Amino acid sequence: MEKLIYALPKAELHLHLEGSLEPELMFELAERNNVELAYDSVESLRQAYQFDNLQSFLDIYYQGASVLITEQGFYDLTWAYLLRCKEDGVVHVEPFFDPQTHTDRGVSFSTVIKGISAALQDGEAKLGISSFLVMSFLRHLSEESAFETLEQALPFKDQLIAIGLDSSELGHPPEKFQRVFEKALEYGFFTLAHAGEEGPPSYIWQALELLKVSRVDHGVRAFEDEELMQHLIAEQIPLTVCPLSNTKLKVFASMSDHNILKMLERGVKVTVNSDDPSYFGGYVAANYLALAESLPLDVQHLKQLASNSIEASFMSEVQKQEHLSSIAQL
Ligand code: ADE
Ligand code: ZN
Repeated sequence: MEKLIYALPKAELHLHLEGSLEPELMFELAERNNVELAYDSVESLRQAYQFDNLQSFLDIYYQGASVLITEQGFYDLTWAYLLRCKEDGVVHVEPFFDPQTHTDRGVSFSTVIKGISAALQDGEAKLGISSFLVMSFLRHLSEESAFETLEQALPFKDQLIAIGLDSSELGHPPEKFQRVFEKALEYGFFTLAHAGEEGPPSYIWQALELLKVSRVDHGVRAFEDEELMQHLIAEQIPLTVCPLSNTKLKVFASMSDHNILKMLERGVKVTVNSDDPSYFGGYVAANYLALAESLPLDVQHLKQLASNSIEASFMSEVQKQEHLSSIAQL
């Protein structure tokens, strides 16, 4: 089982680059950029990674991102993530970044995207990992700030495939961003949104109907709404599920309570992703392994999950077929 998990060609479709910042690199960048951290060692920082819910995680995650200041820092962050992908048999990635986390501290949009894009290009050339980049709006900030961020992105439009929506979900429904997503769609971006992680199924409906998302990030609370489940199945709308994140943030009490296998067996196009691996204890393979340990997953389930990740990506049909036939041969 473990060998198969590593060997399957997989795509990662739900990963926040800022959430892949390992404590060791955080301390290195803090020293390099003269940033003071609230913790005095890697160990004490890791010990602070105990969360009750999404907000308790976000508070610490935004603090951690303060060490990212230079283009080289964003490059190093992205490159370290790609090296981990290579170890895990991830062949394609569509990572997110949160420009407002950085521009609000005076780091320019161009510094952020240039560092990330350079590493993604090297990932393709040196590691054979293909990629598309997604820019996410922080939903606890205003519509106006999202519009400003969209305008800042336009000179880099060819480096971005989609616009996403993340941060504190409850109280910030997708409808708050309907107009800015309409504009993004007009510019030719695909759209994505976190919905149904902590928020109710109505937020998933809004993401689909108002923001016209191509995939739903998380979406696990769809399970509470039978009509929504039938819609997701009929339309084959992908959900980017993040098992270790869901248990760390107490969306599910334990991995054996996770609904991903029930969704998979009903025909929902669920995928397995790591969300913020440095904070939640594991990258993609660790998420598959954690599921296989707690739920009765068989070889067919694993192949289906990997195939779903390829099919749910923005890769070309030709590229998808190559990976799908490799999965079929395993
Ligand atoms: N930002 C980083 N990880 C997130 C998550 N799981 N939900 C919402 N916003 C996030
Ligand atoms: Zn996320």
